[in-house]
Amino acid sequence: MIKINENYLKLQSSYLFANIARRVAAFQQAHADREIIKLGIGDVTRPLPAACIAAFHRAVDEMADIATFRGYGPEQGYDFLREKIARHDFQARGIEISAEEVFVSDGAKCDNGNIQEIFATDITAAIPDPVYPVYLDTNVMAGRTGIFRDGRYEGVVYLEGTRENGFIPDLPQKKVDLIYLCYPNNPTGATITKSELKKWVDYARDNQAVILYDAAYESFIRDETLPKSIYEIEGAREVAIEFRSFSKTAGFTGIRCAYTVVPRSCEAYTVRGEKHSLHALWNRRHTTKFNSVSYPVQRAAEAVFSDDGKSQTKELTQYYMKNAALIRREMSALGFDCIGGENSPYIWVDGKTDSWEFFDRLLDKAGVVCTPGAGFGKCGMGYIRLSAFNNHENVQKAMTKIKAALK
Ligand code: MLT
Repeated sequence: MIKINENYLKLQSSYLFANIARRVAAFQQAHADREIIKLGIGDVTRPLPAACIAAFHRAVDEMADIATFRGYGPEQGYDFLREKIARHDFQARGIEISAEEVFVSDGAKCDNGNIQEIFATDITAAIPDPVYPVYLDTNVMAGRTGIFRDGRYEGVVYLEGTRENGFIPDLPQKKVDLIYLCYPNNPTGATITKSELKKWVDYARDNQAVILYDAAYESFIRDETLPKSIYEIEGAREVAIEFRSFSKTAGFTGIRCAYTVVPRSCEAYTVRGEKHSLHALWNRRHTTKFNSVSYPVQRAAEAVFSDDGKSQTKELTQYYMKNAALIRREMSALGFDCIGGENSPYIWVDGKTDSWEFFDRLLDKAGVVCTPGAGFGKCGMGYIRLSAFNNHENVQKAMTKIKAALK
């Protein structure tokens, strides 16, 4: 008899953003005449930067010519892209990361979800609450948790983010092995300082733990004192894996390109306590299960690092940050406490009411889609998340409608 992976039965009914999309589609069907503005899922709306489009076109033309056609590329990504990433995103900032420590992929979501495969199932994972659901759900699927009871999975150490701690969780009381951190944070938009991040790196070093650091939103950091990479912290190369993405930085959500950094010095242990390179394990996993990203997409990503690409992507993130400032200003003026929106594209709003109720109210009365905080975990109850990813005119209109609806 064929059997299912019963860990899937422990999961909540559906993935958060799929659930929201279904609710919005049902609303749209029932109110065909209503305009809906989406500030829910963080999906970009602006076209690709011109430098990326030109590179993309050139690469497609190469694929049309027998002399320049390419089949399978290296699973880890082409050297031209890995080298640019290492040089511009790390070495130029004084960080020691080499091209061969960079693994190109089709998304930070996939990498964040897949990376847990290289760790044992009986380790203890520390996962923030509120949290981007992928970290938690993929550990449930892998059997690293017990059942879901009272809004929590058994066996997980939850790192609680609250108004009191500014959504920077305290170090765990219980010893943990795998730690998920995301800064600028999704969903709260909170940021972490170098000294706060150092505490986590020190914890990992003292406890033979590994940090999975999701830096997908680093390009929205405007405060130069904040770390863009965990490798700005001394000792992080031994204990941290970092995830980055071109999705929000350069508008690649539709064409897919991201990367994961696994330093050669980052190690974990066998049950007998022998050290093993995580770089070698991830390389083994990647080469077995992945054939990298298409050549034109990697050329488009490479163009992000050209002079034009740099200024065009900066302009792109500035555009969304203008939306973020507007959302934060207007929601604050309405009397809501807000976090984020200053160094991140998400604004975390204390709605002081049930977050699904708030979601329904905004949709029904204002035609605006948000993400209910409760969908990100127990600590998200009472909050909603507003995303700055939309056209400026739509965000202006959404704020006018929200103001009218909540008066
Ligand atoms: C979000 O809205 O949290 C993100 O768009 C999700 C993602 O990047 O997968």
